[in-house]
Amino acid sequence: MHLAYKVKMSFPALLFIFSFFVSFSHAAVQDFCVADYTAPEGPAGYSCKKPEKVTVDDFVFSGLGVAGNTSNIIKAAVTTAFSSDLPGVNGLGVSLGRADLAPGGVVPFHTHPGGSEIAYVAKGTLCAGFVSSANKVYLKTLKQGDTMVFPQGLLHFQINSGKTPALFFVAFSSASPGLQLLDYVLFKNDLPTEIVSEASFLDPDVIKKLKGVLGGTG
Ligand SMILES: *[C@@H]1O[C@H](CO)[C@@H](O)[C@H](O)[C@H]1NC(C)=O
Repeated sequence: MHLAYKVKMSFPALLFIFSFFVSFSHAAVQDFCVADYTAPEGPAGYSCKKPEKVTVDDFVFSGLGVAGNTSNIIKAAVTTAFSSDLPGVNGLGVSLGRADLAPGGVVPFHTHPGGSEIAYVAKGTLCAGFVSSANKVYLKTLKQGDTMVFPQGLLHFQINSGKTPALFFVAFSSASPGLQLLDYVLFKNDLPTEIVSEASFLDPDVIKKLKGVLGGTG
Protein backbone atom coordinates (compact mmCIF):
# COMPACT_ATOMS: atom_id res chain seq x y z
CA MET A 1 0.00 0.00 0.00
CA HIS A 2 2.70 2.37 0.99
CA LEU A 3 4.76 1.48 -2.09
CA ALA A 4 1.82 1.90 -4.47
CA TYR A 5 1.15 5.32 -3.00
CA LYS A 6 4.74 6.33 -3.48
CA VAL A 7 4.79 5.17 -7.12
CA LYS A 8 1.52 6.95 -7.88
CA MET A 9 2.82 10.18 -6.43
CA SER A 10 6.06 10.15 -8.27
CA PHE A 11 4.69 9.09 -11.67
CA PRO A 12 4.03 12.61 -13.04
CA ALA A 13 7.50 13.64 -11.97
CA LEU A 14 8.98 10.57 -13.64
CA LEU A 15 6.99 11.26 -16.80
CA PHE A 16 8.27 14.79 -16.87
CA ILE A 17 11.86 13.68 -16.47
CA PHE A 18 11.40 10.94 -19.07
CA SER A 19 9.82 13.20 -21.71
CA PHE A 20 12.49 15.80 -21.04
CA PHE A 21 15.16 13.18 -21.59
CA VAL A 22 13.49 11.88 -24.76
CA SER A 23 13.15 15.33 -26.33
CA PHE A 24 16.67 16.18 -25.27
CA SER A 25 18.17 12.99 -26.67
CA HIS A 26 16.12 13.37 -29.83
CA ALA A 27 17.96 16.57 -30.55
CA ALA A 28 21.35 15.14 -29.64
CA VAL A 29 21.23 11.67 -31.19
CA GLN A 30 21.93 11.24 -34.88
CA ASP A 31 20.03 8.42 -36.58
CA PHE A 32 22.82 7.80 -39.06
CA CYS A 33 25.87 9.30 -40.70
CA VAL A 34 25.76 8.17 -44.30
CA ALA A 35 29.19 8.57 -45.87
CA ASP A 36 29.76 11.66 -47.95
CA TYR A 37 32.55 10.48 -50.26
CA THR A 38 33.14 14.04 -51.51
CA ALA A 39 34.03 15.39 -48.04
CA PRO A 40 37.19 14.70 -46.03
CA GLU A 41 37.55 11.51 -43.99
CA GLY A 42 38.47 11.57 -40.30
CA PRO A 43 39.53 8.98 -37.72
CA ALA A 44 35.87 8.20 -36.98
CA GLY A 45 35.08 7.58 -40.64
CA TYR A 46 33.60 9.59 -43.48
CA SER A 47 31.85 12.91 -43.02
CA CYS A 48 28.05 12.73 -42.90
CA LYS A 49 25.90 13.37 -45.93
CA LYS A 50 23.19 15.95 -45.28
CA PRO A 51 20.17 13.92 -44.03
CA GLU A 52 17.85 15.50 -46.65
CA LYS A 53 20.13 14.13 -49.38
CA VAL A 54 20.11 10.56 -47.98
CA THR A 55 18.01 7.99 -49.83
CA VAL A 56 17.21 4.35 -49.13
CA ASP A 57 19.79 3.33 -51.72
CA ASP A 58 22.51 4.66 -49.41
CA PHE A 59 21.61 1.74 -47.12
CA VAL A 60 21.45 -0.98 -49.78
CA PHE A 61 24.27 -2.85 -51.52
CA SER A 62 23.81 -5.70 -54.00
CA GLY A 63 27.47 -6.62 -54.43
CA LEU A 64 27.41 -9.49 -51.95
CA GLY A 65 24.96 -11.41 -54.10
CA VAL A 66 27.55 -11.82 -56.84
CA ALA A 67 30.35 -14.41 -56.73
CA GLY A 68 33.82 -12.89 -56.95
CA ASN A 69 36.23 -13.77 -59.75
CA THR A 70 38.65 -16.40 -58.43
CA SER A 71 40.85 -16.51 -61.56
CA ASN A 72 43.86 -15.09 -59.76
CA ILE A 73 47.00 -16.17 -57.96
CA ILE A 74 45.21 -16.91 -54.65
CA LYS A 75 42.20 -18.51 -56.39
CA ALA A 76 40.02 -16.40 -54.15
CA ALA A 77 38.02 -13.19 -54.21
CA VAL A 78 36.87 -11.03 -51.34
CA THR A 79 33.96 -8.64 -51.82
CA THR A 80 33.34 -6.07 -49.11
CA ALA A 81 30.38 -4.05 -47.91
CA PHE A 82 32.51 -1.67 -45.85
CA SER A 83 31.73 2.04 -45.47
CA SER A 84 33.77 2.58 -48.65
CA ASP A 85 31.29 0.37 -50.55
CA LEU A 86 28.03 0.86 -48.63
CA PRO A 87 27.77 4.47 -47.41
CA GLY A 88 24.98 3.66 -44.94
CA VAL A 89 27.20 1.63 -42.58
CA ASN A 90 29.49 4.59 -41.95
CA GLY A 91 29.59 5.30 -38.23
CA LEU A 92 27.49 2.28 -37.26
CA GLY A 93 30.31 -0.10 -36.31
CA VAL A 94 29.17 -2.95 -38.55
CA SER A 95 29.96 -4.25 -42.02
CA LEU A 96 29.86 -7.41 -44.12
CA GLY A 97 31.83 -9.21 -46.76
CA ARG A 98 31.89 -12.41 -48.78
CA ALA A 99 34.77 -14.60 -49.82
CA ASP A 100 34.70 -16.99 -52.76
CA LEU A 101 37.43 -19.64 -52.89
CA ALA A 102 37.99 -22.03 -55.75
CA PRO A 103 39.36 -25.45 -54.74
CA GLY A 104 42.85 -24.82 -53.38
CA GLY A 105 42.05 -21.11 -52.99
CA VAL A 106 43.29 -19.17 -49.98
CA VAL A 107 42.70 -15.91 -48.21
CA PRO A 108 46.32 -15.65 -47.06
CA PHE A 109 47.51 -14.51 -43.63
CA HIS A 110 45.91 -11.13 -42.98
CA THR A 111 44.60 -8.90 -40.25
CA HIS A 112 41.76 -6.44 -39.84
CA PRO A 113 43.27 -3.78 -37.57
CA GLY A 114 39.91 -2.11 -36.93
CA GLY A 115 37.52 -4.91 -36.02
CA SER A 116 36.75 -8.48 -35.12
CA GLU A 117 35.44 -10.82 -37.78
CA ILE A 118 32.77 -13.50 -37.56
CA ALA A 119 32.57 -15.86 -40.52
CA TYR A 120 29.72 -18.11 -41.62
CA VAL A 121 30.44 -20.93 -44.08
CA ALA A 122 27.66 -21.01 -46.66
CA LYS A 123 29.28 -23.55 -48.99
CA GLY A 124 32.22 -25.91 -48.96
CA THR A 125 34.93 -26.79 -46.47
CA LEU A 126 37.57 -24.47 -45.05
CA CYS A 127 40.73 -24.88 -43.08
CA ALA A 128 40.71 -21.70 -40.99
CA GLY A 129 42.87 -20.43 -38.19
CA PHE A 130 44.32 -17.51 -36.31
CA VAL A 131 47.39 -16.98 -34.16
CA SER A 132 47.10 -15.16 -30.85
CA SER A 133 49.48 -12.53 -29.46
CA ALA A 134 50.83 -15.33 -27.27
CA ASN A 135 51.66 -17.14 -30.54
CA LYS A 136 49.16 -19.91 -29.92
CA VAL A 137 47.48 -21.40 -33.01
CA TYR A 138 43.70 -21.87 -33.17
CA LEU A 139 42.98 -24.07 -36.18
CA LYS A 140 39.78 -25.74 -37.35
CA THR A 141 38.22 -27.44 -40.34
CA LEU A 142 34.93 -25.65 -40.95
CA LYS A 143 32.02 -27.24 -42.75
CA GLN A 144 28.97 -25.65 -44.34
CA GLY A 145 26.88 -24.06 -41.60
CA ASP A 146 29.81 -23.47 -39.24
CA THR A 147 30.67 -20.09 -37.76
CA MET A 148 34.08 -18.99 -36.51
CA VAL A 149 35.16 -15.74 -34.91
CA PHE A 150 38.53 -14.10 -35.53
CA PRO A 151 39.46 -11.59 -32.81
CA GLN A 152 40.37 -8.04 -33.80
CA GLY A 153 43.89 -7.47 -35.06
CA LEU A 154 45.03 -11.10 -35.03
CA LEU A 155 46.58 -12.67 -38.12
CA HIS A 156 44.32 -15.29 -39.65
CA PHE A 157 43.71 -17.20 -42.87
CA GLN A 158 41.16 -19.38 -44.66
CA ILE A 159 42.00 -22.15 -47.12
CA ASN A 160 39.52 -24.04 -49.25
CA SER A 161 40.46 -27.56 -48.21
CA GLY A 162 37.60 -29.21 -50.12
CA LYS A 163 37.17 -30.29 -53.70
CA THR A 164 34.35 -27.86 -54.50
CA PRO A 165 34.13 -24.06 -54.46
CA ALA A 166 33.75 -22.54 -50.99
CA LEU A 167 31.77 -19.48 -49.99
CA PHE A 168 31.73 -17.74 -46.64
CA PHE A 169 30.19 -14.54 -45.41
CA VAL A 170 31.93 -12.35 -42.87
CA ALA A 171 30.58 -9.72 -40.51
CA PHE A 172 32.78 -7.14 -38.80
CA SER A 173 32.51 -5.07 -35.66
CA SER A 174 33.55 -2.00 -37.64
CA ALA A 175 32.25 -0.15 -40.68
CA SER A 176 35.84 0.01 -41.88
CA PRO A 177 37.80 -2.90 -40.36
CA GLY A 178 40.70 -2.61 -42.80
CA LEU A 179 42.52 -5.47 -44.48
CA GLN A 180 46.28 -5.94 -44.38
CA LEU A 181 47.80 -9.00 -46.03
CA LEU A 182 51.04 -10.26 -44.51
CA ASP A 183 52.54 -11.30 -47.86
CA TYR A 184 51.74 -7.89 -49.33
CA VAL A 185 53.52 -6.22 -46.41
CA LEU A 186 56.60 -8.34 -47.08
CA PHE A 187 56.63 -8.69 -50.86
CA LYS A 188 54.32 -6.21 -52.62
CA ASN A 189 56.11 -2.92 -51.98
CA ASP A 190 59.48 -1.27 -52.60
CA LEU A 191 61.12 -2.06 -49.24
CA PRO A 192 64.63 -3.25 -50.24
CA THR A 193 65.11 -7.03 -50.21
CA GLU A 194 68.06 -6.69 -47.86
CA ILE A 195 65.95 -4.88 -45.25
CA VAL A 196 63.02 -7.29 -45.67
CA SER A 197 65.51 -10.10 -45.10
CA GLU A 198 66.97 -8.46 -41.99
CA ALA A 199 63.53 -7.67 -40.61
CA SER A 200 62.04 -11.09 -41.31
CA PHE A 201 65.02 -13.54 -41.30
CA LEU A 202 63.82 -14.75 -44.71
CA ASP A 203 66.28 -15.77 -47.39
CA PRO A 204 66.82 -12.94 -49.95
CA ASP A 205 66.22 -15.38 -52.83
CA VAL A 206 62.79 -16.23 -51.45
CA ILE A 207 62.01 -12.53 -51.02
CA LYS A 208 63.10 -11.69 -54.57
CA LYS A 209 61.03 -14.54 -55.95
CA LEU A 210 57.89 -13.50 -54.07
CA LYS A 211 58.42 -9.82 -54.92
CA GLY A 212 58.44 -10.97 -58.53
CA VAL A 213 55.21 -12.90 -58.10
CA LEU A 214 53.36 -10.15 -56.21
CA GLY A 215 54.74 -7.14 -58.06
CA GLY A 216 57.11 -5.78 -55.41
CA THR A 217 60.38 -4.08 -56.26
CA GLY A 218 63.73 -3.53 -54.52
C1 LIG B 1 38.10 -13.23 -64.24
O1 LIG B 1 39.40 -12.70 -64.19
C2 LIG B 1 40.22 -13.14 -65.25
C3 LIG B 1 41.64 -12.63 -64.97
O2 LIG B 1 41.65 -11.27 -64.69
C4 LIG B 1 39.65 -12.64 -66.57
O3 LIG B 1 40.47 -13.08 -67.63
C5 LIG B 1 38.23 -13.18 -66.73
O4 LIG B 1 37.66 -12.65 -67.88
C6 LIG B 1 37.38 -12.83 -65.52
N1 LIG B 1 36.12 -13.51 -65.61
C7 LIG B 1 34.96 -12.88 -65.47
C8 LIG B 1 33.75 -13.73 -65.57
O5 LIG B 1 34.88 -11.69 -65.27
